[in-house]
Amino acid sequence: MIRSWKENSSSVNILRVWLGVTWIFAGWNKATDAGFLDPASAHYIGAQLTGYVASSPIGFILKHMVEHATLIGWSVMIGEFAIGIAILAGVAMQLASIAGAGMTLVLWLSATWSVKPYFLGSDTAYLIMWIALFFALRTSARGLRRNALIPNFRDRRETLRMGAVGALAIAGGFLGKAFVNASPTPEMGSAITTLDALAIGQTLKFKAADGTPAVLFRTKAGVFAYSRVCTHQGCIVDYDAASHLLACPCHGAQFDPTAAGKAVAGPTQVALPKINVAVKGNNIVQI
Ligand code: FES
Repeated sequence: MIRSWKENSSSVNILRVWLGVTWIFAGWNKATDAGFLDPASAHYIGAQLTGYVASSPIGFILKHMVEHATLIGWSVMIGEFAIGIAILAGVAMQLASIAGAGMTLVLWLSATWSVKPYFLGSDTAYLIMWIALFFALRTSARGLRRNALIPNFRDRRETLRMGAVGALAIAGGFLGKAFVNASPTPEMGSAITTLDALAIGQTLKFKAADGTPAVLFRTKAGVFAYSRVCTHQGCIVDYDAASHLLACPCHGAQFDPTAAGKAVAGPTQVALPKINVAVKGNNIVQI
């Protein structure tokens, strides 16, 4: 049975709106990310899982998930849509809250476990919100059969509603693929810039041939480039001229461009992927 907004307290409805919208947005973000399910991309779900293995207390589980990364990526994306839609539509909300809490717990133990202090990682706050929503729903549902924890699949209407939530979640995943950012990227071998335009000691942000945001360095030793996609959770790193490091604004990861992009601080131990570049005549090109 659908639970209307009027049946809930304001605090429950605030949690419903925030968590429901955020989970749908998280699914949409993944659905419209060209690299999330592409093994050749620096922000492929498999690359993210690999990056968490060394620092996570459940690394021994994550390393077995890497080989099924694409399937896991689809499951996470559809799951996020389904949980968000169920919460906003008022369908099986207690079950959706448990699923949301479970998903957040796994994210905390993998993606943000190393974030210090803990309150800078948002997963701890989301975990508490899901648990609070579950108990608020549970308490207000006491004695009401129609608000049972497990949906009644013998009820045709309830089964149809659950099916509609699932169908909308799957549709969201496929719809997102139609909105993938398809902005044109430079051809492999075409000039990123010229030697005249990039003096020794300067850096230049550019888009690599596969669309990955990248940064080019020119030093006395030559030219080299890295992906700017953080190997922790995919935020975009920037070069900090003061520290001579590439720094991530999200959870403080830092990478040394003079040491093969090695991670030197923060919650990841995986280096930034290198982008192969070379000097051809007066041009600097991606090879
Ligand atoms: S995304 Fe978390 S440190 Fe970069």
